[in-house]
Amino acid sequence: MKNLLSQFDRREFLLVTTSGVVGAMLPYRLFAGRVLADTDEIVARFAVGGDLHFGQGEFEQNSTNLVDWMNRERDQRGLDMFFLNGDIVHDTTDQYLPLKERYLSKLQMPMWAVKGNHDFLAKEQTWNDIWEHPENHVIRQGDFSWIIADTSRADNQDSTDYTAADLEWLTKNLEEQQNQRGVFIIMHIAQRREGIDNWPKFGVGHSRPERAPEGEQVMQLIESTPNVVAVFHGHNHNERGRYLSGGKPYFFCSRLGHTWGNTIGYRIVEIYQGGTAKTYQYDPNADAVLEAHELNLKSQNH
Ligand SMILES: [Fe+2]
Repeated sequence: MKNLLSQFDRREFLLVTTSGVVGAMLPYRLFAGRVLADTDEIVARFAVGGDLHFGQGEFEQNSTNLVDWMNRERDQRGLDMFFLNGDIVHDTTDQYLPLKERYLSKLQMPMWAVKGNHDFLAKEQTWNDIWEHPENHVIRQGDFSWIIADTSRADNQDSTDYTAADLEWLTKNLEEQQNQRGVFIIMHIAQRREGIDNWPKFGVGHSRPERAPEGEQVMQLIESTPNVVAVFHGHNHNERGRYLSGGKPYFFCSRLGHTWGNTIGYRIVEIYQGGTAKTYQYDPNADAVLEAHELNLKSQNH
């Protein structure tokens, strides 16, 4: 198997890009269950990036970059889906439409929006009205499922209220996906409070310690669900690596915008035909692959 992640192989990139065929066909790979010769190990490829904070800093340039980078991923190596992992806007309720119309409408792959603590909702406004799916949502394609969950559900206009995912909803929906080969969970805020097992800042319980046990319950649920492959968080702009708990990996994906944090970028996940999967953080400004890790998938015979 080609080790695509040791570093991006420029020659291969050129080969794939100049073939003229791959770019047009790859987005349908996952949904058609088809494998193409040029990237024959990849059966699905998706990106997770968040914290665009539309309205803060160089947000117009950051939004342009985000669309360009995702479309480039799609053209070069295929991108089946993009998850915009929370803090899409910044404490506003009226910027979703401009963001969608001017920028996100140009994305050439399906996108799902994960709700973050800065994604305010007005009284009569719902996530579903804006994004055409609710804040707690399951995407199921072939052998794999993706679950997005709201972690700011207590108050839609208070960015300091970090909450656990809805345990009852998550329990029910993980059960419904139990025969899937793999489940990926995308939640803006980490469910563990800073300091426990050296976890980083800004998890559930950060400003309201009484909420910490609810976050731990969500993690226990995740860690007792065999087919959960990985969890992806945003929110803490300084983090772009992996934390382990109960045998499950929890990844952070730095940021796509705002004025502070680690290098701007996003995380890619690749699932291969041979039954393996990998994820890595990508810094598009430096063309650097960072924090690459193997993921464990269930065996294919079920
Ligand atoms: Fe956040």
